[in-house]
Amino acid sequence: APAGPLAGRHVLVTAGPTHEPIDPVRYIANRSSGKQGFAIAGALAALGARVSLVAGPVTLPTPPGVTRIDVETARQMAAAVEAALPADAAVMVAAVADWHVADATGQKIKKRADGVPPAIALAENPDILATLVRSARRPALVVGFAAETQDVIALATAKRVRKGCDWIVANDVSGDVMGGADNAIHLITEDGADSWPQLPKAEVATRLAARIAEAIA
Ligand code: C5P
Repeated sequence: APAGPLAGRHVLVTAGPTHEPIDPVRYIANRSSGKQGFAIAGALAALGARVSLVAGPVTLPTPPGVTRIDVETARQMAAAVEAALPADAAVMVAAVADWHVADATGQKIKKRADGVPPAIALAENPDILATLVRSARRPALVVGFAAETQDVIALATAKRVRKGCDWIVANDVSGDVMGGADNAIHLITEDGADSWPQLPKAEVATRLAARIAEAIA
């Protein structure tokens, strides 16, 4: 069995974007690369945790020691998170699409001769984090992420309370964080905000995993 401060602990991590199909060949997506979430999953496994990584569509390699569950849509991600419980902690890094296409068709949408483009109606996706914190099987520590471009600490502090999670990792995405190698984050807890310097995503992951180990080990 693996050694380390998180040996015997199960940690759930979501990462990457979701893809929401329009028809069999088209989808709505976002710019999440999955890098930060995969790095966090790897750092937790390196501390001995059993890690379930629910991953949206990305081409990244699975970190050593991590159990990966691949999903495509937000609704599939919600089901995979539910199926992976119980867990001692959850780190919700995924950039989950807020909406899916309400009437996704099984056939490829054709261009019309009259040139009228199709209308795409959207429907709300489940909020996986909000569902988890209200669940009877809520992990003892739930960590959410918040991507903001302004008033980062104030908005993330409000989001921590609104979402009911224990910590928020607030990302300043006004630069080229999405897809980039570095991340500048503020860790928001009930004690306030701890601002970290800009660091490689692997280093952010190592530090966050160490904080999680202090909290739940
Ligand atoms: O409200 P917002 O999308 O900014 O919240 C971000 C946090 O909530 C992230 O931790 C993200 O993984 C999670 N989330 C989720 N399901 C959604 C939307 C966001 O788990 N449908």
